[in-house]
Amino acid sequence: MEHAVTVAENVHWLGVNDMETELFEAMWPLPGGISYNSYLVTAGKTALVDAVKTPYFPLLCSRLDRMLAGKKLDYLVINHIEPDHAGPIGLLAARYPGLQIVGNKRTMELLKKYHAIDSGTLLVEDGGTLDLDGRTLRFIVTPMVHWPETMMTYDEKERLLFSGDMFGGYGALGGAVFDDEMEAAGREGETLRYFTNVFGSVSTMVQKAMVKLREIEVAVVAPSHGPVWRKEPRTVMGWYDRWSRQETENSAVVIYGSMYQNTKTMAEAVARAMAEEGVGDIRLHDVSRSHPSYILADAWTSRALLLGSATYNVHLFPPMQNLVSLFGHKKMRVASQASSAPAAGAAAPSRNCKLSPKTTSGPR
Ligand code: FEO
Repeated sequence: MEHAVTVAENVHWLGVNDMETELFEAMWPLPGGISYNSYLVTAGKTALVDAVKTPYFPLLCSRLDRMLAGKKLDYLVINHIEPDHAGPIGLLAARYPGLQIVGNKRTMELLKKYHAIDSGTLLVEDGGTLDLDGRTLRFIVTPMVHWPETMMTYDEKERLLFSGDMFGGYGALGGAVFDDEMEAAGREGETLRYFTNVFGSVSTMVQKAMVKLREIEVAVVAPSHGPVWRKEPRTVMGWYDRWSRQETENSAVVIYGSMYQNTKTMAEAVARAMAEEGVGDIRLHDVSRSHPSYILADAWTSRALLLGSATYNVHLFPPMQNLVSLFGHKKMRVASQASSAPAAGAAAPSRNCKLSPKTTSGPR
């Protein structure tokens, strides 16, 4: 989109859509692209909250210059220094003389290491504020969500939370920027996939952040990826709360690794038996064909997870080994495990398999 979009009074979205990157973090497919959301807050002073990935710097600047209309850019707030938001820090500092880079103690350490910047900075504390002469921004430090320096910025007047990556999702913004301009429920799948891929391993830190956020009233959630939630911010906050608790639904995921159809036949028989028993939501994945990004998202919210695998060179079939390793990386909790190692050609159920056609949600 060529123009800035008004989010609230004196708050503008200056985000960009990335339809070029095929794999987020060089791992996770982006069939629908992704947005990098940058926001400009203007009062007596001006602040840009987060930037965009470096290739989109010229586009950001063209909109920023138009919005500033000759005013000075006073602050760049770094909620999170990962390069998809903070890559062009040095370029911004060079282009906007006098710009002060705002971050917490950990941000400053990383700023020095990544960008060799140790001046022109403004250190803020957890709960500290920045007065923009008519607008107050408050900072909420949320470490390891999902980098050590992560924080959020809260616009007190608009009760607007610039939440960084948290509450974000995959998918570019195709004209619609706000939740009330799109079928918000249709974003859930790609938001869940983003959550599991990026935040799964730090779910406990997401929960800590959720506790901190109870202290503020949030009318708008403006993340650094995906839609701005101004109509129903509780929707995306509820999703993140549920997923970071690793709550499950009454569904089952059956994953097989099969070279000559035999394990596949077994997996299909298991899935069929579950259907006969009344399990209404069964997702079958061929580990050689479904990307782990999608399997992880399905597995995260399913009450039952069944793995069946061929062996290879007297080890677990490598695509299945990769998936199992990913589950470990993401700290996916399991309630019950087999009492012994699976025999060759079969794998053990690794979750609580107490599925009930009547139950719609519950813990693993
Ligand atoms: Fe969107 Fe953690 O960077």
